[in-house]
Amino acid sequence: MGEGELLCEAARAGDSAKVRALVEAGADVSYFDGEGLTPLMHAAKHGHADAAKSLLEAGAPWNALSPSGLSAGDFAMESGNQDAFDLLLNAGIQAELVLGTIARATNDNGDSNGDYLEDRVTFSEDKLMDSNSKAIMMAWEKPLMEAHAKAVCSGGGHILNIGFGMGLVDTAIQQYAPVTHTIVEAHPEVYDRMLRTGWGKKDNVKIIFGRWQDVLSQLESYDGIFFDTYGEYYEDLREFHQHLPVLLKLGGIYSFFNGLCGGNAFFHVVYCQLVSLELQNLGYFTQLIPLPVKDCLGEEVWEGVKHKYWQLDTYYLPVCQSLQDSE
Ligand SMILES: C[S@@+](CC[C@H](N)C(=O)[O-])C[C@H]1O[C@@H](n2cnc3c(N)ncnc32)[C@H](O)[C@@H]1O
Repeated sequence: MGEGELLCEAARAGDSAKVRALVEAGADVSYFDGEGLTPLMHAAKHGHADAAKSLLEAGAPWNALSPSGLSAGDFAMESGNQDAFDLLLNAGIQAELVLGTIARATNDNGDSNGDYLEDRVTFSEDKLMDSNSKAIMMAWEKPLMEAHAKAVCSGGGHILNIGFGMGLVDTAIQQYAPVTHTIVEAHPEVYDRMLRTGWGKKDNVKIIFGRWQDVLSQLESYDGIFFDTYGEYYEDLREFHQHLPVLLKLGGIYSFFNGLCGGNAFFHVVYCQLVSLELQNLGYFTQLIPLPVKDCLGEEVWEGVKHKYWQLDTYYLPVCQSLQDSE
C-alpha cells in the first residue's frame, strides 16, 4: 500500500498519531484515493476532528472536491460531527479571507463583468440569458426578490437597487411606493428594455445607466439598498460594501442576492459566514433569514441553462443593519 493510501486509512480510523507520522515521513496530504476522496474527507466523513486538524495543519486542501462535488466540510455536515465541521469552517474562512479562491472560481472571466456588458442578452418569459446560455436572472427567484424588496422597503423612504435584470425586485419595490426609487443598470439592452417597458416614466423612479463602480458620484444616501449584479466577483461585492457607510442612512436596511457558492452547501456556509464577518468589521449586523426554495426549483427550471447557479434547498436572505441600530 502506498503512503497516500496509508494516510487515508489512518484518517478513516482517526489515528492522529499515525497521520502525523505519515505526514512527517512525507506522505501527500492532497492525495486522492481510488474513490476520489482525500485523507481529510475520510477524517471528516468519520467524524475524526483530531485527525482532520493534523491534516489541515500539514496543508491539506480544505476545498478539494470528491467526484460527486462534495468537500470535506460537506462530509462533516453529513456525518453530523460538529467539531470537524467547526474546524473545517474555520479553515475555510481563514483561507478565503486571504485568497477568495472559491468565489473567484465561479467566474470564468479574468476581469469583473468580462465581456458580458458588450454581449447580446436574450429575454424570455422566465429568464434573461447571456450569449453563452448562462442565466443572468430567472423567474424562479421571484419570491426571493419579493422578500428582498420587503426587507429593504421596511422603513419606507428612499430606495436604491443595483442591477435591474428582469425587474422582479424593482416591481416588488414599487408595491411599497417608496418616496424615490433609484435603479442602477449597466447593460445597454437591459437599459433599453427598461425604457421600452415604461420604467423611465414612473414618478418616483430614477434610472442611472452605467456600472455602479462608475456612477457612485451620482448616488445619494438611502433608507434601503439592494445589490444583485451579474458577472462580478466576490471582490466586487466586498468593494460595494466599503461604500455602505456613505450610501446607507443610519437606520437603513441593506440586502444583496446571496448566491455565494450556490452549488455547494459547505462552501455556501463558509461564504455566508465570511460576508457576515466582513460586514461586521464595517459596522453592520447581518441576519440570514432561511427561505425554503426546493419547491420552486424543479429540474425543468434549468432546461437550456448552461450553469446551474443554485443547487441548495434553503436560501439565506441577508438583512444588514448598522450595529448601532441593532444594539
Ligand atoms: C441578476 S440580474 C438582477 C436581477 C434583479 N434583481 C431582478 O429582480 O430581476 C443582474 C443585473 O445587473 C446588471 N449589472 C451587471 N453588472 C453591473 C454593474 N457593474 N453595475 C450595474 N449593473 C450591473 C446586469 O446587466 C443585470 O441586469
